[in-house]
Amino acid sequence: MTNKKRVTFGSRLGVILATVGCAVGLGNIWRFPYMLGVNGGAAFLLVYAICIVVLGLPVMITEFFIGRHSRKNAAGAFKVLAPGTKWIVIGYNGVLAAFLILGFYFVVAGWTLEYILQVVTGSLTGKTAVEFASDFTRFSSGIFRPIFWTVVFTALTHIVIVPGVKKGIERASKILMPVLFFILIVLCIRSATLPNAGAGLSFLFNPDFSKIDSSVILSGMGQAFFSLSVGMGCLITYSSYFGKETHLQKTAVQVTILDSLVAILAGIMIFPAVFSFGIEPTVGPELVFITLPNVFSQMPLGTLWSLIFYVLLALAALTSTISLHEVATAYVHEEYQMTRSRAALVVSAGVLVFATLSSLSLGVLKDYTIFGLTFFDFLDYVTTKIMLPFGGMLICIFVGTQIDRKILKAELTNQGTVPFYFFNTYAFFIKYIAPVAISIVFLNELGLIEWIRRMF
Ligand code: PHE
Repeated sequence: MTNKKRVTFGSRLGVILATVGCAVGLGNIWRFPYMLGVNGGAAFLLVYAICIVVLGLPVMITEFFIGRHSRKNAAGAFKVLAPGTKWIVIGYNGVLAAFLILGFYFVVAGWTLEYILQVVTGSLTGKTAVEFASDFTRFSSGIFRPIFWTVVFTALTHIVIVPGVKKGIERASKILMPVLFFILIVLCIRSATLPNAGAGLSFLFNPDFSKIDSSVILSGMGQAFFSLSVGMGCLITYSSYFGKETHLQKTAVQVTILDSLVAILAGIMIFPAVFSFGIEPTVGPELVFITLPNVFSQMPLGTLWSLIFYVLLALAALTSTISLHEVATAYVHEEYQMTRSRAALVVSAGVLVFATLSSLSLGVLKDYTIFGLTFFDFLDYVTTKIMLPFGGMLICIFVGTQIDRKILKAELTNQGTVPFYFFNTYAFFIKYIAPVAISIVFLNELGLIEWIRRMF
């Protein structure tokens, strides 16, 4: 079953950093604050935090099990563990999700490159909050510029993907993460000491429970899955490159803590500034892009800080696009016997078509909607709120019902050489709690629970 020749990550630190690199990205710094703003502030933070602990972490450990045990990509893993069964659908769901996520992720990642250019050319300084906002809208709803940056970002990802896992991903993540933490902390301090910062901190940390409804719960769950990169086999693919001595549960806990920390730091960096500069917290995807330039303009050496920040944001996005691309590329490469470079090309070209459409859907194509959503929002909705939780649920049910407990325990304890104190609790969670909880959130969003309540 084990394929001995599979490349593995070079070091223990490399394992953690590469996985954190996959998890930490635009999801934490761009999507988390904007979702929190749209979904009523601290109430969302609470739902998100609960979902991270109750669903995200157990699913992550389970993906690590599947990946390292099978040593295959997200779809191939199920062919090894459950040959000839329908469980392979988990793999397909994941590969498709990776593809669709890239369809909007590359667009936002492209925006970070535009901002780097604007910092370098000096056009991001000396404006009012209103001008920052209107300039962003003009740019993102345009045709040529955002598509150009989307293409550039796709090409960058492509270049890293082709030579393969070890050289690209690991090397990049090692330098990136520590610097990212440093700059986030500096920006948090600046933001939290602005006038009226308290209102932002209270919006972020002081929950108004009346804000919690089915859509906030679904959004919080979706954000937890998206941010941790779980539910779509990304971590199956990554952990298939883990060495046999990698401590799976510990790695999962470390990655979860670091990822959540980055999201919370992003919140502390954004919301005091949002309230200080009179920006609406509910504006949506542009929140980070219109808030931060105001913060930088209030800092000594603001241009330098903003340059470092946008470069890091682009690189954090890159370590995530690499992992998403890797899921699709590894699948095409291994399952269709294509060379790696040809597989990567197929994926890049296909994703670009989707990404171009989703970029245009913020401007000229904004009236073409699917279920009332622009193409950009539609891709985001189906992947984060449906495909990832659905995939996560199936992953739990699969391992909970199809895998022998002894095999599960042996893999998660490195054949009994490291302890797993809460193994029984974990096994109970993935078999019962996670699938039931995710189903309830889905039913709730569909209004079925409300409907049943009214019936009785
Ligand atoms: N977790 C990444 C982020 O926060 C996005 C991602 C999702 C990456 C799913 C891989 C798989 O930006």
